Amino acid sequence: MNIGIMGTGYVGLVHGAVLSSYGFNVTCMDVDEHKIKQLAAGISPIYEPGLEQLIQRGIESGTLSFTSNAQQVVQTSDVIFIAVGTPSKKDGSADLSYVRSVVQTISNHLNGYKVVVCKSTLPIGSSSRIAEQLNGALQASGASFRVDVASNPEFLRQGQAVSDALSPSRIVIGTNSDAAKQMLQRIYATQIERKVPVLYTNAETAEMVKYAANSFLAVKISFINELALLAEKVGANIDDIAEGMGLDSRISPHFLQAGPGYGGSCFPKDTEAVVDIGKRNGEDLLVVQAAIQANKKQKQKMITKIASRLSFNGKLRGRTVAVWGLSFKPDTDDIRDAPSRDIIQGLVDLGATVKVYCPQGMRQARRLWSELNGAIHYCDSEAESAANADAIVLMTEWAQFRNVDLAAIASNMRGNRAMFDLRNMFAMNTDVQQLFSYYGVGTYSEPKVYSLQEAK
Ligand code: UDX
Repeated sequence: MNIGIMGTGYVGLVHGAVLSSYGFNVTCMDVDEHKIKQLAAGISPIYEPGLEQLIQRGIESGTLSFTSNAQQVVQTSDVIFIAVGTPSKKDGSADLSYVRSVVQTISNHLNGYKVVVCKSTLPIGSSSRIAEQLNGALQASGASFRVDVASNPEFLRQGQAVSDALSPSRIVIGTNSDAAKQMLQRIYATQIERKVPVLYTNAETAEMVKYAANSFLAVKISFINELALLAEKVGANIDDIAEGMGLDSRISPHFLQAGPGYGGSCFPKDTEAVVDIGKRNGEDLLVVQAAIQANKKQKQKMITKIASRLSFNGKLRGRTVAVWGLSFKPDTDDIRDAPSRDIIQGLVDLGATVKVYCPQGMRQARRLWSELNGAIHYCDSEAESAANADAIVLMTEWAQFRNVDLAAIASNMRGNRAMFDLRNMFAMNTDVQQLFSYYGVGTYSEPKVYSLQEAK
């Protein structure tokens, strides 16, 4: 079976590489020729554990190739996956311009029966509309064949994308076509044999499952973050609360880690999009809207927390803050909608000097946060960013932060040597807490009056 993948972002690339490892002939297509050249040389444009090796193995075994020639991909593929981005527009709705362009390309080059599969997160009803568009054009041109369209959303997590694609929690197949269903069963035969649960449903339901899952997870995070704010006020400990709640199997302990707010390429975009879909259909999704509002508030609260501990008057002029971790989560270089962006902006606006270090996110930050380039200092290590700083703000829980020599780092800092551990990485480590004026999230900590020693 020949499989074409339109779009080589996270979803398309990981999916294509994994399918090629099962022996399918996979061709990944992207309009970005530079990216295609890089990929053809076995270089992954994104940092994702295990992905580059998988791409190289696919190229070596001849099952994975890359091209910018859309016509060739459409005409040689039995199944075409649409995996282009659907970013947010200003009003929160999904920007479907990439999807429209790919569908038009497919329509222009169709030369026989194919299954078109929507992997991108698309507004509910999109797969049916794509089917109408493609088949309408075929009918108008007098073609003797039709195409089938299915929705098959992706649930992979960045940082674990390869293992998630190899062993998904579930496979959702949304289509009314038996031929499309059978084709997808063949594609996922390895996972189905391994007893990965499969949900067969219609395309609208499959599309909505994706929004429902991401919104629910966002609600869970906003819920625990809101309670973390309260826990701080009343002297309770949010990590223990999460454990105490999570022991109830109806609640589950997962996704109850309080922090600076959720970010990334999915939750912010998909929550906004589902609210927009709700509005268009006359339904106000109040719970999801509240999760979005609480997430904005959480980031603001983190700025206030830092400012109130580091200054007398709310201003941070003369204070130096080291920020560790820019990516929205560990093991990725993705900084899209990362909470670090808003928190750094807040600190800069209050007059702080901000020195940042991230194991993988700095290249993207330099590129995409160009407006911050003059205002923040990029450093090569945790130690360099913290040298002479008043505080460390730990934004992302990269495992390597556990292995740094924090005693040496603290000795090179000044003032009260504050650590704002926004991921509670060191919440159980009393040694670390003795080195710094330590502030976690959702744990009560006596505010320490900032020493009168002024910035040098
Ligand atoms: C998410 C979904 O998990 C995945 O199923 C979907 O396909 C895409 O969106 P991803 O964005 O890669 O995946 O990251 P995820 O691990 O879900 O984390 C998203 C954000 O929530 C991160 O900013 C993370 O720090 C935050 N988060 C997550 C919390 O603050 N607390 C938690 O308990 C869990």
